Amino acid sequence: MKYDVADLSLAPVGKKRILWADNDMPVLATIRERFAKSKPLKGKNISACLHVTAETANLARTLKASGANVVLCASNPLSTQDDVAASLVKDFKISVFSICGENRSTYYKHINAAIDHKPVMTFDDGADLVNELHTRRKKDAGRIIASMEETTTGVIRLRAMANEGKLKFPVIAVNDAATKHLFDNRYGTGQSTVDGIIRATDFLMAGKRVVAAGYGWCGRGFAMRARGMGANVIVTEVDAIKALEASMDGFLVMPMAEAVKVGELFVTLTGNKNVIRAEHFRAMKDRAVVANSGHFNVELDIPGLKKLSKKIICNVRHCVDEYVLKNNKRIYLLAEGRLINLAAAEGHPASVMDMSFATQALQAEYVVKNQSRLSVAVHDVPMQIEQQIGRLKLKSMSINIDKLTAEQIAYLASSGEGT
Ligand SMILES: NC(=O)c1ccc[n+]([C@@H]2O[C@H](COP(=O)([O-])OP(=O)(O)OC[C@H]3O[C@@H](n4cnc5c(N)ncnc54)[C@H](O)[C@@H]3O)[C@@H](O)[C@H]2O)c1
Repeated sequence: MKYDVADLSLAPVGKKRILWADNDMPVLATIRERFAKSKPLKGKNISACLHVTAETANLARTLKASGANVVLCASNPLSTQDDVAASLVKDFKISVFSICGENRSTYYKHINAAIDHKPVMTFDDGADLVNELHTRRKKDAGRIIASMEETTTGVIRLRAMANEGKLKFPVIAVNDAATKHLFDNRYGTGQSTVDGIIRATDFLMAGKRVVAAGYGWCGRGFAMRARGMGANVIVTEVDAIKALEASMDGFLVMPMAEAVKVGELFVTLTGNKNVIRAEHFRAMKDRAVVANSGHFNVELDIPGLKKLSKKIICNVRHCVDEYVLKNNKRIYLLAEGRLINLAAAEGHPASVMDMSFATQALQAEYVVKNQSRLSVAVHDVPMQIEQQIGRLKLKSMSINIDKLTAEQIAYLASSGEGT
């Protein structure tokens, strides 16, 4: 078995983390039990480019239980949990190519190792693997039945490829399933972003003036959780409806150029680039803290920040770099501008990844069963999968809900009854 991980001796700690996360992933465990009997992905080579965390390990175990040959590589250079990677190799016999802190060339070497596995199905978080299959590894694209995409930024990239007529195989926008973004992006990113910031800085959130850039699913979650801890949250947006929503949810809304004058902690969650630029850094207060929780580290103009600085002191604290600007103000950049929740904390809690990865697992089964019907396009997750995940999750939480009566079904389907 081929692999490239940091240190196999970390496996015992990683195994404990994987099993601890599994306790909070009952829907995925139910699917794994069924897959172990019916083997829906028997003999299929699968390459997954995902954050190598304890929760992802449980998805990889589920795919393996279904009969697939699974290889895992990282979807971000800083998000790998090295102990989990070691345990996957040693205890679960799953090939992993990922090392926390790997440089760009190793990151792509690992993605290419995952493609050397000759996958017929891929999983992506940000579309780096799919992009490689459309550029440098075009010859390997022909055998792909479908690829599953986990995050908003990946879906945006894939839709752009489809619009430009470049897409070579069917892809599934798993991120767009309600069972994914309503919970993972909102409650998962919301909680784990606060967690990452606190672990990196040990700051008190109460009374802090926090600026959240972006009021999409992740931004809403973060703003809500930061306020819950007593922060005074300001939202910046470019979309009029989202800005209105933020305002009526009770947040102050203003442009970034104004927010920089008052903010103490800035977090980008937009999926866009250069949301905080040189002119913003220059106008920030002394000792402002800046972090990103969007997919790529382009949301902050780090090259611009470097140009403004006369001195950079790395690691004044773990995951904190101090930039001393020419105007003598200090800016603290967290986790090199990479996903703060994964780089400084442990990513989303297992309970929410249970739904995301259960959606991924059922979608993989669906793709194999329906491959002849899947066109080369970006597809949504079918509603029956979403409903099944919803029912299983409610059951695992011992929550019962009402059922429509026959009379209510007829009423909802009719136009006859009025005032
Ligand atoms: N940290 C994580 O673990 C995690 C989890 C899920 C998604 N993500 C990533 O987070 C990012 C956001 O995802 P989402 O699901 O919230 O997307 P979304 O589309 O729901 O929201 C993005 C919001 O940002 C706004 N925006 C765009 N440019 C802006 C700018 N210049 N200034 C202010 N606002 C701007 C948009 O109008 C939109 O409302 C994506 O990159 C996604 O891949 C990260």
